Amino acid sequence: MKQADRSAHATPINLERLDELLRGLSIEEKAGLTAGIDAWHACGATSVGLEPMLTLDGPNGIRGVTFPVGSSATCTPCGTALGATWDTDLVHEVAARIGFEAKRAGVHYMLGPVLNLVRSPLGGRDFESFAEDPVLAAVLGAAYVEGMQSEGVAATPKHYVANDSETHRTSVDCRVDERTLREVYLVPFEAAANVGAWSIMAAYNRVNGIHCADHDHLVGEILKREWAWDGVLMSDWHGADETVAGAVAGLDLEMPGPPHVYGPHLAAAVRRGEVSEAVLDDKARRVLLLAARVGALTQEGTRVGRPAVGRPAVGPRLDPAKPWHLSDAEASALVRRVAAESFVLLTNDGTLPLAPAAIRKVAVIGPNSARPCSQGGGAAHIAAPPAVTPLDGLRAALPGVEIVHEPACQIGLFLPPLTAADVRDLDGRPGLTVQFFRGQETAGEPHAAWHIDSSEMHFFGDLPKGLAQDDFSVRLSGWLTPSVSGSYELAIRGAGARRLRVDGTVAANLWDAPPGDNIPTALFESRQDGAKFDLQAGKRVLIEAELHSAAYAPHLLAIGCRSPESNDQLERAVEAARAADVAIVVVGTDESWDTEGRDRKTVTLPGRQDELVERVAAVNPRTIVVVNAGCPMDLPWADRVAAVLYAWLPGQEFGNALADVLLGKSEPGGRLPVTIAARESDYPALSTTPDEQGQLVYVEGINLGYRHFDAAGIEPRFCFGHGLGYTRIEFESLEVSADGLASGDSAQLKVRLRNTGTRAGKEVVQVYVADLESSVARPPRELKGFAAVHLAPGESTEVFLTLEDRDLAYWDDAAGGWRIEPGRFEILVGASSRDIRLRASLELE
Ligand code: BGC
Repeated sequence: MKQADRSAHATPINLERLDELLRGLSIEEKAGLTAGIDAWHACGATSVGLEPMLTLDGPNGIRGVTFPVGSSATCTPCGTALGATWDTDLVHEVAARIGFEAKRAGVHYMLGPVLNLVRSPLGGRDFESFAEDPVLAAVLGAAYVEGMQSEGVAATPKHYVANDSETHRTSVDCRVDERTLREVYLVPFEAAANVGAWSIMAAYNRVNGIHCADHDHLVGEILKREWAWDGVLMSDWHGADETVAGAVAGLDLEMPGPPHVYGPHLAAAVRRGEVSEAVLDDKARRVLLLAARVGALTQEGTRVGRPAVGRPAVGPRLDPAKPWHLSDAEASALVRRVAAESFVLLTNDGTLPLAPAAIRKVAVIGPNSARPCSQGGGAAHIAAPPAVTPLDGLRAALPGVEIVHEPACQIGLFLPPLTAADVRDLDGRPGLTVQFFRGQETAGEPHAAWHIDSSEMHFFGDLPKGLAQDDFSVRLSGWLTPSVSGSYELAIRGAGARRLRVDGTVAANLWDAPPGDNIPTALFESRQDGAKFDLQAGKRVLIEAELHSAAYAPHLLAIGCRSPESNDQLERAVEAARAADVAIVVVGTDESWDTEGRDRKTVTLPGRQDELVERVAAVNPRTIVVVNAGCPMDLPWADRVAAVLYAWLPGQEFGNALADVLLGKSEPGGRLPVTIAARESDYPALSTTPDEQGQLVYVEGINLGYRHFDAAGIEPRFCFGHGLGYTRIEFESLEVSADGLASGDSAQLKVRLRNTGTRAGKEVVQVYVADLESSVARPPRELKGFAAVHLAPGESTEVFLTLEDRDLAYWDDAAGGWRIEPGRFEILVGASSRDIRLRASLELE
């Protein structure tokens, strides 16, 4: 695999001046640089002209929590969607756009991309990862880092390393052998370090018994010495746990603040002689270097400014006190294009693309057709412009066609939040009112009041001015006017002390609950507390959720409400499908399933969605299923419907991109970055629950994803790399420029392609390598390179790819290094891991 050279952003930094600044700092000042000061800012230092650096999540847009309510930023497709594009230039462009918006908002570094892998299909954060394959994740991850940093904003690849699932994520001990680490899980981080990521985030979990933030082997030896990486290793939020072990291993920055183990604690450890001053200097120097890189160091002689590449100046930084909207028509067009490039057409009996002229009536049904999951839950969730739903997109694209809609069933793990469509705030506007109070009781005049659109609030560091994080209370209120009479379920979710009232009646009371000692876990607790209420149509009720905080912690306060479910919802959807020319069924997950902090229990689609698809397919032969999920889900009905399109979590332009692809305005450009198994038990790693010793053993070793299916001879439902287009692209020839590959050499591949169809289309050339004569067990084939190619009808092209000696190597544990064995290797070039079109041999002496 060879990465594109996009080194234009490299900016000269006056390193001598940095050293001079460092010499002028006391131990306490230097230690101050190693800690956050609040939820999102790393420490500043006025004596050296360092402004506090603002960090924000990532990775599918900039998260708005510290921004004024009402602000929004562009929401791009999720990680697996970017993975499905197999397009480095596109990923670079997306990251540059996010970097551009971050820079406008005054953000110095972004917390992403996620370079962990889709190990189990149950991993809650699979949607943030690019792929199950290390090389695909590495190449796209490196392009993301370079795109973001081309705007002068640091990328922070995370979570280093083996944070591939969420169950007990702060304590789980992932047992991964060295060869597997080297050949699989470290590969994307190595690529990110090689392209010069300015920061990396350490994972919460342990690897082979040691917390990642304190891991001398992974951090000190590999990341810092072997890879000679010069960036800042920051902790995950509240993930730094040891002053001395962390400092010696190589953790540079504790986040968030105020510090628990670094800052003054690190200064004291240095003064006591437990940590050498040289170790502290190295950390402080790295932080200063990062500050210089992102333009936060204003001292004369070091300021390099933010390197501007390609894009014109961004204009003044936005006023942090006023709401802003960073997305614009250019961003929407990009997101729409990328989403279409990520949609994977898994099957198609010829029904797609649809010819609008031949359609009179379309049924757009399923839970995600009008309430799509455009982005996942947790840290990645951003305040974005409202997503275009599939229903909206299809209505706009098919003006003369009758469109009927039925949601059919509900899917949430939690009761759905109330939205502006359901409730009114205390002033009668659609939405809810949030009132903040000083102290632990929601009494007296509110200190501040906000208006919000949804009853799910996450806040941390974004409190109104003048409120202390550890001494405030808050009330979220809305008037609900029931549209039908019946039994309504109402519940509250949150971390810490909370309660819920419905028209003054207590529905849940946890007012004395402790704040929770494990913040990252408490935030994602799957507990909801509430009661059922008989409500009358048209008679409004006041719903109030309250929370009080005596601890410095992130908070969640959410009200969920389920209205009486009518029994005939699913039947109505089936009838709508029967009466339509085409049935488009949008199934999937929501943010409670595709989320940080919680793994799924099964790959089955939640709710009655499988039943819905089967029943719709039975009454309408032109049933198109769109799967709106960020992770691999089971598709048991796949060969009984006309077409299946995997749409991931596609960002704010979902509906428009979907209409483009279904109607053939755009090519479905995606190829699977994961394997979709025929049976849950076929996956090499399924359970994400640690054993009684707290260990999660990576038993499959290097045979992750398709490598396992190939090695075990298991037929997946859809293999890694699979995806159909609307045209036919032939692989005509393969030439290899070298017969062998001596150490340090590379081989050039030339692949000739021709579009023999009548439409423009895309192909992803995938290069796999098989070691035919290995003395150690190796996967039957491993992806080593790829290229996305667009061709006009009749057009042909030559694609050049490079294989490097390392692409043939395996990690030799005994020797502690990479080893290439002599013998025969096969180069397999194709359109998926199982659709190999061309082969060549390489003989190594
Ligand atoms: C997540 C990180 C995130 C951080 C800050 C943590 O819980 O694991 O990915 O960047 O919070 O929001």
